[in-house]
Amino acid sequence: MNTILIGAQWGDEGKGKIIDLLSRQSDYIVRYQGGANAGHTVKFGAKEYILHLIPSGILHRGKRCVIGNGVVIDPEALFKEIDTLKQSGVEVKGRLFISEQAHLIMPYHQLMDRLQEAGQNGKIGTTKRGIGPCYADKMARLGIRVSDLMDPVLFHDRLSYILEEKNKVLTKIYGHEGLSFKAIHETYSGYAVRLRPFVANTMELLNEAVHRKKRILFEGAQGTLLDVDHGTYPYVTSSNATAGGALTGTGVAPTHIGEVMGVVKAYTTRVGEGPFPTEFEPPLMEKIRNKGEEFGATTGRPRRCGWFDAVVVRHSVLVNGLDTMAVMKLDVLDDLPAIKIATAYKCDGKIYKTFPSNIRVLEHCKPVYEEHPGWQTDLSRVRRYGDLPVNAKKYLARLSQLLKTSISIVSVGSQRNQTIFVK
Ligand code: GDP
Ligand code: IMO
Ligand code: MG
Repeated sequence: MNTILIGAQWGDEGKGKIIDLLSRQSDYIVRYQGGANAGHTVKFGAKEYILHLIPSGILHRGKRCVIGNGVVIDPEALFKEIDTLKQSGVEVKGRLFISEQAHLIMPYHQLMDRLQEAGQNGKIGTTKRGIGPCYADKMARLGIRVSDLMDPVLFHDRLSYILEEKNKVLTKIYGHEGLSFKAIHETYSGYAVRLRPFVANTMELLNEAVHRKKRILFEGAQGTLLDVDHGTYPYVTSSNATAGGALTGTGVAPTHIGEVMGVVKAYTTRVGEGPFPTEFEPPLMEKIRNKGEEFGATTGRPRRCGWFDAVVVRHSVLVNGLDTMAVMKLDVLDDLPAIKIATAYKCDGKIYKTFPSNIRVLEHCKPVYEEHPGWQTDLSRVRRYGDLPVNAKKYLARLSQLLKTSISIVSVGSQRNQTIFVK
């Protein structure tokens, strides 16, 4: 069965840990959107890996990993990741396949991202990895794809024409120096040589795998509320982080998908700017941030933390058609005497039970909470659902009831074995 795994909140739900666990029973693990803005953590024993571009399944020997057409690739970040993996004994050669249709992040994308974020207006709090400008060029048909880079004549032509346009914007609008064609051409021609062995027609490769009844795991990056269509626009990333992105981002048809799994934290976090109705006030913010080690895996920024927001996750259940959920980091709530869940929002006397699109409503609304007693017990050693304290079971049952979705995995720590598979 082929599974799409998505983040059901604002990213960093713990997708890396679940992908790593599900990789054992998968043949192919596939990234389909986003780029090196993602940071997926996998821990076992004293080892910690943070994957940005390469699917988290790479840590399992023999598994094939694919970077699909929907991903935007920064070659420098990719090679750095390949080298880091190699140093820890993980060889990617022969089992990493990169789509020839994927778009490349160019130096002007990163520069534009930094310049836009440094401006007075419209700060998003991006990861400054050039993601937004690269996707904007893709849509404007000004992008450079892996296959363009593989053809020296085509690459030379496209880069000269596109860089001329980019330099006009850099010099005339931002008052910045233009970038050198020669320098970019030389650097990227070097990247082309290193990239070539990995380049493949991944659409054909994956459909062939479907035909041979291989199991494909689609690894979502970011989260539903960061999706460019379904998230808290404009405070989103520039790709479709929802389940639909797995189809357009790989060329595998919806008829081949067996299951969609959502990953949620037992509370909520977000990094960067934008509305966050259930955000904690300072004392609780620090407590949960420290206990949950809530610091960005890509940028190191402190993550904003808040109560579980059922309005947000109900939205994710619908948009992604979630069949089941993994609830992560339940252990982080261990010490709390009482735990809140937002079930609706209130704004200007009006109650919102469904997720409002209007960003002003989201910024000003107050959550309607229900309160549950905490369990005040250490969960980190629990391995069976039946062994959870009664209040933890009640909390999980309430989440499942509010979201009308079953919970198949509960995570009580970052290690592989700190996982409860719910029967
Ligand atoms: P991703 O982007 O969705 O893959 O998530 P990140 O890796 O950015 O952030 C999740 C963090 O939580 C990582 O540091 C994980 O090691 C950690 N983590 C995952 N599951 C659990 C859990 O159940 N409990 C605790 N305490 N930490 C967890
Ligand atoms: P994973 O896959 C959390 C956020 C940024 C910013 C917004 C836009 O680890 O869950 P971008 O650089 O993408 O243009 O920034 O999106 N963001 C993430 N937040 N987890 C991520 O990835 C994120 N990737 C981007 O903080 O608010
Ligand atoms: Mg992350």
